Amino acid sequence: MEKEKRRIVVTSALPYANGNIHIGHLVEYIQTDIWARYQRLAGNECVYVCAADTHGTPVMIRARQEGTTPEELVEKMRAEHLRDFTGFQIAFDNYYTTNSPENKALSERFYAAMESAGAVSEKSSPQLWCEHCKMSLPDRFVKGTCPKCGAPGQYGDSCDKCGSTYGAEELGDPHCTTCGGVPTVREASQLYFELEPWHGYLEKWLPGHVAGDVANKLLEWFGEPLRGWCISRDAPYFGFEIPGHAGKFFYVWVDAPIGYIASLENWCAKNGRRLADYWPADGAEKTAEIYHFIGKDIIRFHCMFWPAMLKAAGFQGPEKVFVHGFLTVNGEKMSKSKGTFVSARTYLDHLPPEALRFYYAAKTGGTTDDMDLNLADFVQRVNSDLVGKITNIASRCAQMLHKRLGGTLGALDGEARALLDECRAAAPRIAGFYEDRRFNLAIVEICRLADVANAYFDKRAPWQTVKTDAETTRTTLTAALNAFRIIAIYLKPVLPAYADKAMALFGESEWTWRSIETSLEGCALGPYEYLASRIEMKQVDEMIAAALVKPGETGEVSHESRPGKAKREDAAAAPAAPLKSEITFPDFDKLDLRIGVVESCETVPKSSKLLKFVLDAGTLGRRTIFSGIRAAYPDPSVLVGREVVFVANLAPRKMSVGVSEGMILYAGEPGKSGGALSPTSEAGAGAQAT
Ligand code: MSP
Ligand code: ZN
Repeated sequence: MEKEKRRIVVTSALPYANGNIHIGHLVEYIQTDIWARYQRLAGNECVYVCAADTHGTPVMIRARQEGTTPEELVEKMRAEHLRDFTGFQIAFDNYYTTNSPENKALSERFYAAMESAGAVSEKSSPQLWCEHCKMSLPDRFVKGTCPKCGAPGQYGDSCDKCGSTYGAEELGDPHCTTCGGVPTVREASQLYFELEPWHGYLEKWLPGHVAGDVANKLLEWFGEPLRGWCISRDAPYFGFEIPGHAGKFFYVWVDAPIGYIASLENWCAKNGRRLADYWPADGAEKTAEIYHFIGKDIIRFHCMFWPAMLKAAGFQGPEKVFVHGFLTVNGEKMSKSKGTFVSARTYLDHLPPEALRFYYAAKTGGTTDDMDLNLADFVQRVNSDLVGKITNIASRCAQMLHKRLGGTLGALDGEARALLDECRAAAPRIAGFYEDRRFNLAIVEICRLADVANAYFDKRAPWQTVKTDAETTRTTLTAALNAFRIIAIYLKPVLPAYADKAMALFGESEWTWRSIETSLEGCALGPYEYLASRIEMKQVDEMIAAALVKPGETGEVSHESRPGKAKREDAAAAPAAPLKSEITFPDFDKLDLRIGVVESCETVPKSSKLLKFVLDAGTLGRRTIFSGIRAAYPDPSVLVGREVVFVANLAPRKMSVGVSEGMILYAGEPGKSGGALSPTSEAGAGAQAT
C-alpha cells in the first residue's frame, strides 16, 4: 500500500550572527539535515528552514567595536554561516535572517495577539545601567561576586562555582564587562509575557511533544504559578521596536523563534506557496507537521515560551521539539586553549565533510545525552567503516569489472539474490531508525550489511575465479556492486555527495528509498570515481594546531585594514596607509602597558618576520615575546639592554615557534621603517606606564 505523502516543516535553532559556525553547532545542523534528507528520500515533502539570529546586545557591541553597522555585520556573518553550512552539505531550503521585514511584521502580529489575550503586563524591576556605555547591561555583560557563595568574577545570571541563579543587581562589586566601569542600579519598567494563563495548556502539551526526560524536568515547575517572562529591552538595542513603546525593543528571544515562520514565509513567497499551507494560523486546518531541532541549553524558550506564544497568536504548534545534547571533544568541553574549539571553516581546511557527517551520524542516538568526538576514534571509525568496509566494496569490484571484464554487469544467481534480499530486508528497520533520529543504529545496520557483502565477496574469491571463469566472476561482482548500491541508498541522507557519485557509477539520475527494490543486471558501469579516502591523524593534529593559533593572532604586526577608507591626497601622491577603525577609550584602557628590559633578542629559524625577545619585566618576572618586527632590525642585538614598552595583559598565545607572552609596542607606517617604543624616562623595569 502506498503511504500517504507527509508535508513536513523542519527547523534547526537559528545560530547567533555574532559568531561563526563551529563543530559543536554542527551536531545540530548535520542531525537535522540527515533527518530532512531522509524524509525527502522517503518521498515526503520536507521544507528545512533556518536563519541567522541577528538581534541583541552582543551584535550591537561587536559592530561598534568593528566600526561597522549591525546590519552590515549580520549580513556578512549570515553569508559566512551559509558558506560553511554548504561546505558541510547542509541543504536548507531557506537560510534567512531575523532582521527581515517578514519577521518584523510577524513579531508585531504576535505581540498584538499576546496583548489582546491580556498576557502582556508592565512591571518595574531593578536593572544595571552602565553610564559609560550608555546602556543597560544584560546578564552576560556584567560580572561581580556571587551573592550566595562570594565567588568573584561571576556573570549576572548564575554562578559557575555554586550554581545558584540570581538577578544581576544582586551581584557584589559589579562591573561592566565592556568598559570595566561600575554600573548603577535603576528601576525601569519592562514588558512581561505572562505564562500563567497557559499553565494548563502547557502542562497538557508537554508530555506529547517533547521527550519524557525533558517534559518531566519542565513539569517540576508546574506546582506553582508560572513566572512571567521579560520580553522588552531598552534602547540602545539592535532589534525591533515595540509598537506603542518608543525606546523599547523586543528582547531577541521574542523575535528569534518567530524567525522560523518568517524564514518559511520568505521561502513560500520565493516558491509560489502560501504560508497558510505550511504553517497554519487562526484555526485553519492542519496541513503540515512542524518539527524543531534544538540543543538542551534552549529548552525553556522552545518548550515553554514558544508554545505559549504560538497558542496566544493562534499559530499551529510544533508536532515535536527534538532536543540533543552538547558536543565534547575527547571527553571534555570544547576549548579554545586546547584547540578543540574548531570552527567549521578550520575543519574544512583540513578534513572532508563526509568524515564528520558519518561520525556524527554514528554517534547520534536521538537523546539529550552529550556526544563525544573522540579524535582518535573518529579517524579509526571513518577509516575502518566508511572507507575499509563500505567504500572498499565499490572500489574493488568496480575496478576489477572495468579492468578484467569490460565494465559490464552480468546476471544474478541464487546466492546473489539471497545477498540482496538480506540487504533489502533491513529497509524498514533502517527507515525506523532514521525517523526516530537513532542514526547510530542505522549506521550499525548499514555496517552489518557491508560485512555481509564483504563476506560474500571473500567467499566467492573473484580474484581467483577471474583467471578461469569470467562469467562466474561477473556474477560475483554484479552481486557485490548491487549490495553496495543498496547500502549507498541507505547512506544517502548521511552522505549526499557520496551517494551522488555512487549514483553516477551506476548511471542513474535519481534515487528514492524505493530504488533499493531494483537490481541492475547486464548494463554498463560508469567510470569509477573516488568516493571517500582514508583520513590521517596528522590532518586532525594540523586542524587542532590551526584552531589553537588564530590567523591574525600570530604575533606578527598586521598592516591589514578595512578597505574603502578615504585616502589622504598629499603632495607625494603616495596613498597613505589607511588607519584601522577607530577605537574608544575603554578599548585603549584595557591595555596594561609595562616596561621591560630586553635581556636577549634573536631571530627565529625559518621565520622571515619574527624576533624572539626575552624581557626582564621586573615584578612580573621574565617574559618571552615573539614580535613580527624583524624587518626593522637587521641586527637584533642592538635591542639588547634597551627598555621597551609592552602589553602585559595580553593572553599568552601559542605559536608554532613557542608561546608568546605579550606584545611589544612598535610604531610606524606600513612599508616604512618604524621602531620599538622605548621610554626615555629613568623609570625602572616593571614600572607602570601611565
Ligand atoms: N540564537 C539561539 C537560538 C535561537 S532559535 C530561535 C542560539 N544560538 S547558538 O548559536 O548559540 O546555538 C545554536 C544551536 O546550536 C542551539 O540549538 C545550540 O544548542 C546548538 N549548539 C551550540 N553549541 C553546541 C555544542 N557545543 N554542542 C551541541 N550543540 C550546540 O542558541
Ligand atoms: Zn560599560
